[in-house]
Amino acid sequence: MVGLFFDWNLLMYKVIAFDAFGTLFDVYSIAKCVDQIYPGQGQAVSVMWRDRQIEYTRLVSMADPSENGSRFYIPFWDLTIKALHYTFARLKLPLDQDIELQLMSQYAQLDVFVDVVPVLREIQKMGTPMAILSNGSREMLSRVVSHQQLNDYFDALLSVDEIRHFKVMPASYDLILKRFACQKEDVLFVSCNAWDVVGASWFGLPTYWVNRSQLPYETIGNQPTYASQDLTELKNLIAG
Ligand code: LAC
Repeated sequence: MVGLFFDWNLLMYKVIAFDAFGTLFDVYSIAKCVDQIYPGQGQAVSVMWRDRQIEYTRLVSMADPSENGSRFYIPFWDLTIKALHYTFARLKLPLDQDIELQLMSQYAQLDVFVDVVPVLREIQKMGTPMAILSNGSREMLSRVVSHQQLNDYFDALLSVDEIRHFKVMPASYDLILKRFACQKEDVLFVSCNAWDVVGASWFGLPTYWVNRSQLPYETIGNQPTYASQDLTELKNLIAG
């Protein structure tokens, strides 16, 4: 892992690609919403919901890794609803349509982390194209990006919908190379998920791990090229 000092190499990246949920958008802000419905349950629900959602993505892709997409593919929005049902059943919390609607609409208007916009501005000033590469379905992604008025920063919103597989399938990271007609070493992939960083680096991309929750890194896989607690450090790297 490279320490946090100014690195001229950062200016060499032709594309900076961000993961969406958890990296730019605060999925755990959903906990607040749950707490209003079931006081004290917010943390447990949001963590289990997120874990189950990601687990389902792996089930879908591993069960049918074919190049044409998994026949078990379910768009992330629907898969997120399924994960919600599981979480409430597991925690023995009643879930009616109103609560589901309330929580899912919250999902469509997630908070953006405070450090995000300043770094997007800095990269835009530098002239480096930016993208989002997300498990999020196209509509889900464009809704949350528009809600936070971030459209102008991104040259591409890349959704795995296109390949009907989820990260960390190599074809998902390849979407960046195809869209920008560039080489692996030209891309800096930024994610808060250590598993996503492992997947991207196994694919061959330089990586930036935003360790927002101060978690240990995965015990398998390559170390990230860069790591820090939030995106402010990425901004400092760029600004010098
Ligand atoms: C995404 C999830 C994995 O946006 O955070 O792809």
